[in-house]
Amino acid sequence: MIDDITRISSEAPVQVRAAATIENLRDLEAELLGKKGSLSELKKGLAGLDPEGRREVGAALNVARESIAALIADRRAELEAEKRAVVLAAERLDLTERIGGPVRGSVHLVTQTWDRLVDVFVGMGFTVAEGPEVETDWYNFEALNIPAAHPARGMWDTLYVDLGDPETVLLRTHTSPVQIRVMTETPPPIYAVMPGRVYRRDTADATHMPVFHQIEGLVIDRNISFADMAGTLEAFTSAYFGGSIHSRLRPSYFPFTEPSAEYDINCVFCEGSGCRTCSHTGWLELGGCGMVHPNVLRNVGLDGEEWTGFAFGFGLDRLALMRHGVDDIREMYTGDVRFLEQFPS
Ligand code: PHE
Repeated sequence: MIDDITRISSEAPVQVRAAATIENLRDLEAELLGKKGSLSELKKGLAGLDPEGRREVGAALNVARESIAALIADRRAELEAEKRAVVLAAERLDLTERIGGPVRGSVHLVTQTWDRLVDVFVGMGFTVAEGPEVETDWYNFEALNIPAAHPARGMWDTLYVDLGDPETVLLRTHTSPVQIRVMTETPPPIYAVMPGRVYRRDTADATHMPVFHQIEGLVIDRNISFADMAGTLEAFTSAYFGGSIHSRLRPSYFPFTEPSAEYDINCVFCEGSGCRTCSHTGWLELGGCGMVHPNVLRNVGLDGEEWTGFAFGFGLDRLALMRHGVDDIREMYTGDVRFLEQFPS
């Protein structure tokens, strides 16, 4: 038995060194030290020995087990370090690397879109207004004719802020609260656009992000009609997308406008003839619009007999995605330079 132990101990270092992977080493460990391993098998033979022999062989077994366990531990550390080195080398990022001199960054696609949209609207005579991203229930819902128990609240999955009474402070779910702020703060006539970041309790997927951007338009003046709205949206559509792209309105519902409509444009890829992007309809849905609801005018203290107006709003990210044929909104927010570089400003 002592000879067997000596043989196992002397072969072990070669075997351990030969283990090329952590998995090989684990197998070898089972073979040598495991319950069914060679040392354990020898240990079973102890029962047949006299006390003297049992002590001697038992001690030799312990020494062998400890030294083999130490060899395996060393080798495991070595293999793990090698593995880590390989991963580190593969994921190495040289932050000082320069390829062909300093590389110029560019404005993010969302910002580019924001700037272009604002330019077009300013060109049409609109001013630009912004508001806070953390809003009260009043501005985001109540004033927009969406009282607390209104079923339409379900249209906006809301993220509430833990401030004040429960569900009184929130991350704005749309840019419409800025309408309320503008109408409360500026006397009409009002011709304003309101771009901004908005939040919804959504899980990120190809078409949703819990944070995205909208741009809203608001007109309040005397004798404003639905036809003025349709004309304004049509003028904007051809100014932004080019003369061959037109708009159409379909009946819809929003609590803060009456009547309300969905605003579609000709598909920017097939120009209306039908393709995959527009599901062969020739049209792309851009946003919502409608005549400002009399209750909303009342909430901001405007006389609905004297003043009328319209509002419209659409997703800015969505528009950029459609324009550039990007099929996953998450690309906008991962900051992957390979994506960003495709949109030099
Ligand atoms: N605020 C609406 C939304 O987020 C869009 C909208 C704006 C509709 C203005 C009508 C008028 O869905």
